[in-house]
Amino acid sequence: MKVTIIGAGNMGRGIGTRVLAGGNELQIIDRNPEDAQALASELGASATAGSPDDELTGEVVVLAVYYPGTLEAAEQYGDRLAGKVVVDICNPVNTDTWDSLATQPGTSAAKELADKLPSGTPVVKAFNTTFSPTLVAGEVAGQPLDVFVAADDQDAKAKVTDLIEGGGLRAVDCGPLDRAQHLESMGFVHIKAQEPLGTGFQSALKELS
Ligand SMILES: NC(=O)c1ccc[n+]([C@@H]2O[C@H](COP(=O)([O-])OP(=O)(O)OC[C@H]3O[C@@H](n4cnc5c(N)ncnc54)[C@H](OP(=O)(O)O)[C@@H]3O)[C@@H](O)[C@H]2O)c1
Repeated sequence: MKVTIIGAGNMGRGIGTRVLAGGNELQIIDRNPEDAQALASELGASATAGSPDDELTGEVVVLAVYYPGTLEAAEQYGDRLAGKVVVDICNPVNTDTWDSLATQPGTSAAKELADKLPSGTPVVKAFNTTFSPTLVAGEVAGQPLDVFVAADDQDAKAKVTDLIEGGGLRAVDCGPLDRAQHLESMGFVHIKAQEPLGTGFQSALKELS
């Protein structure tokens, strides 16, 4: 599968590592092209670097940028996202207080993103509950990470599920995109638990049975 990650930061590194572990082709784009190049060189394998004006080569495009930058990216990349599966990974934390979500109750950053994209572009919420260092490792305490996934489009969800499982992780189907609001709350609580637990963003949320 061909995958584009927009954003060569922490999550670009984490998700990029899993994408390559699954034998996929990876294009990394960043508004600072030298950062994209540095990450592509670090990750090696099929990773290539690009700049925001380039063609998006991935059939799946991961927006690895902060909210509300995700919404700005939808406008910036515009029609180039038509026909792609867009993966929203953000936790829309209110950066005034760092103590709530910036989105309104009953909606989500993923739904807001879907409204900004070219009509019919499927959005998949995934990876917002997994921290970047754990994605690089692919596991915590010897257990593969769970990646909670929500989407309306079943084909798009299946594609992202294949990507997740190809990278050695477990995809957990959480239902339609409406559930993204709950995944964003899960991500927020996971972030807030780091300080009392002292886990330094090395922990994972997992369904055990
Ligand atoms: N870090 C985690 O463990 C974690 C876990 C779960 C979810 N998330 C979510 O993942 C997203 C990314 O987090 P991160 O920690 O990877 O952030 P980060 O390290 O700051 O990386 C984001 C990168 O994207 C670049 N960028 C921003 N807007 C862009 C655009 N329109 N086009 C191209 N490049 C752009 C940024 O450039 P500049 O440096 O110039 O801004 C930066 O290099 C956030 O939404 C966050 O909520 C993060």
